[in-house]
Amino acid sequence: MSALLEATNLRRHYRVRAGQGLFAPKAVLRAVDGVSLALRPGRTLGLVGESGCGKSTTGKLVLGLVPPTSGTVHYRGQTLPPVGTPAWRGLRRHIQMVYQDPLGALDRRLPIGTQIGEPLVIHEQTTATERRDRALAAMESVGLQRHQYERYPHELSGGQRQRVVLARALMTGPDLLVCDEPISALDVSIQAQVVNLLLDLQERLGIAYLFISHDLKVVRQVSHDVAVMYLGRIVEQGEAESLFAAPAHPYTRALVAAIPTVDFGGGPKRERMLLQGDPPNPVNVPSGCAFHTRCPFATAQCRAEAPTLQPLAGGRMVACHRVHEPALQVAA
Ligand SMILES: Nc1ncnc2c1ncn2[C@@H]1O[C@H](COP(=O)(O)OP(=O)(O)OP(=O)(O)O)[C@@H](O)[C@H]1O
Ligand SMILES: [Mg+2]
Repeated sequence: MSALLEATNLRRHYRVRAGQGLFAPKAVLRAVDGVSLALRPGRTLGLVGESGCGKSTTGKLVLGLVPPTSGTVHYRGQTLPPVGTPAWRGLRRHIQMVYQDPLGALDRRLPIGTQIGEPLVIHEQTTATERRDRALAAMESVGLQRHQYERYPHELSGGQRQRVVLARALMTGPDLLVCDEPISALDVSIQAQVVNLLLDLQERLGIAYLFISHDLKVVRQVSHDVAVMYLGRIVEQGEAESLFAAPAHPYTRALVAAIPTVDFGGGPKRERMLLQGDPPNPVNVPSGCAFHTRCPFATAQCRAEAPTLQPLAGGRMVACHRVHEPALQVAA
């Protein structure tokens, strides 16, 4: 199946102050440092990794909301036009974003029905009646009641607000949604409802998702494929079910081992591998494999040479010098 959206070797570097104070020297922060992704129609790619590893920046690069330092994004085979140009605005109707905080994403002064209809004002020539009708239909499709059309965001629950954000994102008939921690701000009891809604929308409308989350349990539930990021790079990538059942990179193993009480049914016994410490400062990324400072398997080669993504069986890609070694196989 050909890719809906293909990102190749994306980099986004920021110049930041390396220390405290006004006169601290400037340094380069590599928020995203050579990420390639392919999103297929109607499928979900989960993007995981610890806080600050570059997930949101990758999402914004994919949408063109942040221009890349280098690298390319192709949507349906065409280069993504520069942000703000008419061509980019035309394309935006096909790629929408859903953020973590639904209240922050909505205008407190406007009824939700008006806000759901807003994308049509930007992207299509429609009458007020048409907008209202289509907003009501979108509300129904995300499980909101028609009588809630005139409600204001603060009069709704967190889960209902996220449904409003989804209804608004669906108005232009997108085929890709970038969901950045879409359920993290919701009560646990509501999270499952929104996850089910996302799955249901995908089945009905064939939308592809880039699903960004640090919650691996949810990512496992929704994703067909998964990419694991560490300090701006993808360290492992592959089909979700097999990746969670048999993670190969020591970092992925540690993340999977930290998922609370998941039954992997009949798979190999899960190892106890805990991540030590916090991720290193992204302004000062360790030499060689960036994970070597926290990896129990690191050798001199890992400290000196950066590993690149290499194919394993089953389409898995892993960036680890030691992935084929018996020592690591036994540890698994
Ligand atoms: N505009 C910016 N200027 C400077 N640094 C930035 C900017 N945006 C992001 N960064 C830095 O880039 C790195 C990646 O940030 P990003 O928001 O992509 O991480 P994340 O994986 O989404 O984290 P989280 O899970 O906490 O949302 C971080 O170190 C962050 O501080
Ligand atoms: Mg983020």
